Amino acid sequence: VGASTERMAGLKAGDYFQDFVGPLGQPSEFVKEDLEEVKKRRYLFVAGGVGSAPVYPQVKWMKEHGIDVDVIEGSKTKDLLILEDELKAVAGNLYITTDDGSLGEKGNVISVLSRVLSDEKIDMVQTCGPHKMMEAVAETSLKADVFCEVSLEERMACGVKACVGCSIKTLDGMKKVCHDGPVFDSKIIVDVNPKENTGCSCGN
Ligand code: FES
Repeated sequence: VGASTERMAGLKAGDYFQDFVGPLGQPSEFVKEDLEEVKKRRYLFVAGGVGSAPVYPQVKWMKEHGIDVDVIEGSKTKDLLILEDELKAVAGNLYITTDDGSLGEKGNVISVLSRVLSDEKIDMVQTCGPHKMMEAVAETSLKADVFCEVSLEERMACGVKACVGCSIKTLDGMKKVCHDGPVFDSKIIVDVNPKENTGCSCGN
């Protein structure tokens, strides 16, 4: 929805963009790491709603580099699920959940996540989806002592930390999603071991 999106959607084969800038921001940690190190780890992706769109190319990239990863994909209903066939083609195991039970397990991604984390040795969880879902994914992963990265979404105008339109308040201060993220260590949105409130305002 929006003027620019409409213009992009109206492009025909052979049309082109005058220019573009990117990629911008910070990628997932595994993109920056040595591939052999990445291969030693067991990754689990959790996608919710349109969060499946950015998850798919990452899982595809993993598959192309000989790394088998499992994916949990959740949506409200079967009709709102996207990229199911594409994910099935590249994921080791694809677990599907729908809120109304119209496809896969009835419920949300958290029950499957808890089960997979207790049954298997997972080293890293990567998640993208609604903010509330990512908070729950982060909390569940961190409680199981598994590192989790969240891919945050905010409305962005400039993409280069100039307009502050994408600023968010986190447990680690203000962040600009376009520049500091969009991928962050989930500990910036969830603290599973909050310090006890001692009544002292110094925070110690
Ligand atoms: Fe402008 Fe992030 S979009 S600062």
